[in-house]
Amino acid sequence: MGSELASAEQPNYNYNVVRQFTVMTIVWGVVGMSVGVLLAAQLFWPELNDLFQPYSHFGRLRPLHTNAVIFAFGGCALFATSYYVVQRTCQAKLFGGFLIPFTFWGWQLVIVLAAITLPMGYTSSKEYAELEWPIDILITLVWVAYAIVFFGTIVKRKTSHIYVANWFFGAFILTVAVLHVVNSAAVPVNAFKSYSAYSGAADAMIQWWYGHNAVGFFLTAGFLGIMYYFVPKQANRPVYSYQLSIVHFWALISIYIWAGPHHLHYSALPDWAQSLGMVMSLILLAPSWGGMINGIMTLSGAWDKLRTDPTLRFLVVSLSFYGMSTFEGPMMAIKTVNALSHNTDWTIGHVHSGALGWVAMISIGAVYHLIPNLYNRKQMWSVSLINTHFWLATVGTVLYIASMWVNGILQGLMWRAFNKDGSLTYSFIDAVEQSYPGYFVRFLGGAFFLAGMVLMAYNAYRTIEEANEESAVDAANEPQTA
Ligand code: HEM
Ligand code: HEM
Repeated sequence: MGSELASAEQPNYNYNVVRQFTVMTIVWGVVGMSVGVLLAAQLFWPELNDLFQPYSHFGRLRPLHTNAVIFAFGGCALFATSYYVVQRTCQAKLFGGFLIPFTFWGWQLVIVLAAITLPMGYTSSKEYAELEWPIDILITLVWVAYAIVFFGTIVKRKTSHIYVANWFFGAFILTVAVLHVVNSAAVPVNAFKSYSAYSGAADAMIQWWYGHNAVGFFLTAGFLGIMYYFVPKQANRPVYSYQLSIVHFWALISIYIWAGPHHLHYSALPDWAQSLGMVMSLILLAPSWGGMINGIMTLSGAWDKLRTDPTLRFLVVSLSFYGMSTFEGPMMAIKTVNALSHNTDWTIGHVHSGALGWVAMISIGAVYHLIPNLYNRKQMWSVSLINTHFWLATVGTVLYIASMWVNGILQGLMWRAFNKDGSLTYSFIDAVEQSYPGYFVRFLGGAFFLAGMVLMAYNAYRTIEEANEESAVDAANEPQTA
């Protein structure tokens, strides 16, 4: 009777694929960040480049890191949460039959192929789109399957409206499809090498239209979808303003798409396009902060929960970092500021205040919410380990970004210092020498963040093990109770 009631109230959701993606979020998080820590160590101890030459060289491992953290860790987090959220908010089981496991195994295959080909030196040399054309085709197939599963579930929903989190997930899926197909257009030479279909300034423009919107839609819109579901759920409060969330959605997606040229200031790109990129980036501050405020204010009347709930702390602190990085970004897009920040560690600091502070922290918060729900537990195996993780992640992020700000401004100022006779005051190596303390602090920050991820992996393992033991006992008891 009890189980009948439960199934009448809740459709029989497909949690299997959500569990798979959730576990792989943690696995790829640990792997991708370990490579990040190795890169940070290489910049302080250059001899580490020689570990397994040429595979362990910084130039080969750097794209491995970016692909692993963005597409493997971030991607699995987005698959897991979007599949979970779309089912629950639409009150419908995932649509798509065999396409559902195909998205999981196909995506894992893409990641494994990336992990093999990038250290071997196969690359299209387009940042964040380094994978060669056969893998690009596989990505397209998986992505089309993902879109069918996601939008198919929306179509067969039992609720009348479409909750705003799904709007953000939907925009992320559609836009990433267009970005990927257009930017990856290439002429293959053989199975391992291709050349971009575009050339010169047009190639650069398309690449940074892609690159910036990979930030805007992969690393932002998708994670805002996570925010709109998991912050209200974990705080047990309705979203602060549903109206604001709609304005936030339309403003964000219509402005982001124009801001790409801020990556190409003082380049061969026409000047008007650079200025357009700058202005659009400045306007972008408004919807970004609108979203942040909407998320943070959702805690109105529930602030006390922050004292006892470390998962909620992850979610809220991620929004503070989101606010910080979306203030910093528009400032860096101003041409005169960019003249100082471009090519320095300031950019790297900005990237990681978004990547660690926002993307990783909101994903971690969502995973800590998901695991107990997916495995029928009241909470994670150890709440105090979540708390330790929270502090390691927060201190790690602050060490990372503060050291890169110091390094970046120092490098920018040293590179542009002139003597009275017009010669440069400092040689390039002078600036490198001054950057060493910052590189060590960044390595420490990264190691803190990674240590937190390892604790998370252990905590998740113990929670899942406990759940499995309990279901084994239940299964053993079943014949006697039947
Ligand atoms: C209003 C929002 C934002 C604006 C206007 C913005 C603007 C900028 C600017 C001007 C740069 C420097 C470009 C250069 O000098 O080469 C940059 C770099 C970057 N930003 Fe942002 N940013 C924003 C938010 C974010 C967020 C939230 C993230 C991450 C989650 C992020 C990730 C990146 C990355 C990965 C780069 C480095 C790209 C590269 O050169 O490889 N940004 N951003
Ligand atoms: C333990 C955590 C991490 C460490 C220690 C770390 C370290 C690094 C290092 C050393 C670089 C190369 C910087 C350079 O070329 O000077 C880098 C680049 C980058 N990392 Fe991370 N990282 C971590 C986590 C993440 C995460 C979670 C993300 C994204 C979700 C991320 C995204 C990126 C991106 C996009 C770049 C390229 C930046 C650019 O080209 O401007 N990282 N990381």
